[in-house]
Amino acid sequence: MNDLASLVESARADFARASASAELEDAKARYLGKAGSVTEQLKALGALPVDEKKARGAEINAAKQAIEAALVERRADLANRQLEAQLAAQSLDVTLPGRNRGTGGVHPISQALERIEAIFASMGFEVADGPEIETDWYSFTALNNPENHPARSMQDTFYVDLEDDEGHWLNLRPHTSPMQIRYAQAHARRHAGAATMPDVRVIAPGRTYRVDSDATHSPMFHQVEGLWLGENVSFRDLKAVYLDFMRAFFETDQLKLRFRPSYFPFTEPSAEIDLMFETGPLAGRWLEISGSGQVHPQVVRNMGFDPERVIGFAFGSGIDRLAMLRYGIDDLRLFFDGDLRFLSQFAGT
Ligand code: PHE
Repeated sequence: MNDLASLVESARADFARASASAELEDAKARYLGKAGSVTEQLKALGALPVDEKKARGAEINAAKQAIEAALVERRADLANRQLEAQLAAQSLDVTLPGRNRGTGGVHPISQALERIEAIFASMGFEVADGPEIETDWYSFTALNNPENHPARSMQDTFYVDLEDDEGHWLNLRPHTSPMQIRYAQAHARRHAGAATMPDVRVIAPGRTYRVDSDATHSPMFHQVEGLWLGENVSFRDLKAVYLDFMRAFFETDQLKLRFRPSYFPFTEPSAEIDLMFETGPLAGRWLEISGSGQVHPQVVRNMGFDPERVIGFAFGSGIDRLAMLRYGIDDLRLFFDGDLRFLSQFAGT
């Protein structure tokens, strides 16, 4: 093999050994660069006699072209390999199952609320919604709550530093009872002029607010108000409706109710409703779940009805409490922390 042929061989071998383009360019410089072996050969041409120059020059050029061709080939090779490596690293397996977005769930309070609405709807109750910012007339006065009653005090009630057009103070409603008045008034307007007015039968669930905060009280909580007024709606009806409600809500007949005498300005007589499970982890303990009573005649009058003709019951129950009992939750604050570890346990139930 002559010197040029072995130069081409060794260039090919060097190029083949280069595994990255920087290495390949270094190798190229050793042959084709300013001080490269091929360049040296060309420079040496000048020292040759004229008759040899031409033939030798042609041979060197042929070798140079062979090396350049090997270089171009190796460059393409390396570029291909790099592309393949990149494709392998970033490979996308279109046969893999898709990644789901996290599925949301209905908040346990909302689930309890939906159950309550469905149960009362099945008993012929309408569902009404009303303002959370109330006037003191609806929150207190219309409910026969005297001006100086402690429930109006700043300790209990969030007042808003505003008055409505008629000079009534605004507050964040401390209970859903204002909805008794609002709904009964709207009902009376709706049926004005009718020969006989249908019973008022409604529940009004929603957010309520009091200055109170610990494991079983939150400044924002939920109540559901119930109201049934008619010509002859008695405490017995309250007991039957509430017992049906509890059995449906907790999906068991293994429970008892107790009506414990109490006081509310807007009911007379009044009772706290206590619940006791006969089985399960809470069995045997009386749990306070609701206020209730026969609607006070003055309140019936404030609604726009004649208390000699219209009588009925009302109750106001804590939805958060009912949800805690149903789902076995011991700290009310968990409902409002927004912690997904807690909330996701109720998704899809
Ligand atoms: N509004 C009362 C409370 O928040 C509950 C209640 C409602 C009592 C209706 C009697 C009748 O404590």
